[in-house]
Amino acid sequence: MVLPHSMPLVPLPLSASVGDDRMPIGDAVRVTGDSPVAAQLIAGIARRSGIRLPHATDHSAATESTISLRIDRDVAGPEGYELTVGESAEIVGGDEAGLFYGAQTLLQLLREGDAGWGLLHARISDAPRFARRGVMLDVARHFFSVAEVLKFIDATSALKFNHLHLHLTDDQGWRIRIDSWPRLTELASQTAVGGDRGGYYSKDDYRRIVEHAAERHMIVIPEIDLPGHTHAIGIAYPELVESPVLNDSLIAESARLEQTLPVKGEPYVGWGVGHSSVRIHEERTYDFVRDVVRELAELTPGPYIHIGGDESLGTPQADFDLFVERATAIVIEAGKIPVAWHEVGAAAGIAEGTVGQYWGKTTPEGTHAEEAAHFVERGGALIMSAADVAYLDMKYSDDFPLGLTWAGVVDVRTAYEWEPTEVLDVADSAIIGIEAPLWSETARTIGDVEQLVFPRAAAQAEIAWSPHTAPERTWESFRSRVATLAPLWETAQIDFHRAEEIPWTDR
Ligand code: ACM
Repeated sequence: MVLPHSMPLVPLPLSASVGDDRMPIGDAVRVTGDSPVAAQLIAGIARRSGIRLPHATDHSAATESTISLRIDRDVAGPEGYELTVGESAEIVGGDEAGLFYGAQTLLQLLREGDAGWGLLHARISDAPRFARRGVMLDVARHFFSVAEVLKFIDATSALKFNHLHLHLTDDQGWRIRIDSWPRLTELASQTAVGGDRGGYYSKDDYRRIVEHAAERHMIVIPEIDLPGHTHAIGIAYPELVESPVLNDSLIAESARLEQTLPVKGEPYVGWGVGHSSVRIHEERTYDFVRDVVRELAELTPGPYIHIGGDESLGTPQADFDLFVERATAIVIEAGKIPVAWHEVGAAAGIAEGTVGQYWGKTTPEGTHAEEAAHFVERGGALIMSAADVAYLDMKYSDDFPLGLTWAGVVDVRTAYEWEPTEVLDVADSAIIGIEAPLWSETARTIGDVEQLVFPRAAAQAEIAWSPHTAPERTWESFRSRVATLAPLWETAQIDFHRAEEIPWTDR
């Protein structure tokens, strides 16, 4: 039986039928298969139900019923899987990632009923729409511990996100150890917005994050924001940065928020933007960028390094262009693909293949669309993070206690109802995916982060993963399906926002 409005799955699969009958989950069920996903699935079922299923690597050891896992490239493509639940359950992944995603779907089918725990009967065939499905966490405005980042990875990879962009540096703090420039973390990491406690990741910390993400098929993209958003660098190495350039809007906003203005060489704990710049005409700046990029590349198995490039309001345009042309070339020399915010597309000579991240609105303003299109003209591609729909730090409503409103007020429905290929005038094939950023000016704790991220990240996950023409790709279907994630998020102790738009369920 097909029950689209009670199907408890987000993101929506490519094709799925889910019934009311259940495969009981108890001690007599064995998990078979030698993928690492078997242990992850057993742990996931145990966390949710308290039932720890035995793992039988020997298929013949299966008794009453099994959940069997295997890989078959003829059955599914990259990241895809087929899943059936009847008397037994089987997940066939096109690869390890596909098996992992099949397991995440299976965990959503695990429900508690009057007769105990069971898996809803289902036949699912699934594969992602976009290869690139990202979330971003700003650990610079507020710092989050390794354990908190790992929890964030668990929760977002369960929604089939496969890229985690870490915004590691900003005016308020430098959060990653760089051995060749040690004062960055010694002197410029200890504060955060509002004078809150800062922090930084040692290289071992960072490797733990990368490894944990990789085990969940997530690539980590480190961002060093340049040439603006660099006030903190000046606390450690004053010779690398210019004095703050104060613009009228920064002065007015700082007065309204009662935040002090930036002073060179002193920690900045407000959240005004556009006042800082590295020195564009000093060779030492490029030695610095080269060293930082090299050390980050060594820590990064994934293909990308993000060099920022947003809101360099105090940097003259010609200087900005010169800088980003050199910085993107330095990333290429380090063997990585540069990623940059869309403003970088203003420079004629950015490295070929640079990936742009569009953070303008769904109706582009000013030169944003042109800047974004230039990445495509240079053989690159685009990630869509339209701020008035995909920014997870915008308020849900005017009176929501956390978040900002400069891009708009983004309720769950607004977060859900946008189409990444309809924003810019570029070929659909130039859009490699989307990313939903969480900026942390107002998010002081991981609980604050979770309030802003969930449930809206689920909306972005569906946009990234699910076929946009499917009949169930509607707000009415989504709101009834996302409602069923509440008990999963509660088990995971995720402090999600119980938005009134969603008819939340308890089991
Ligand atoms: C941005 O929101 N400044 C990329």
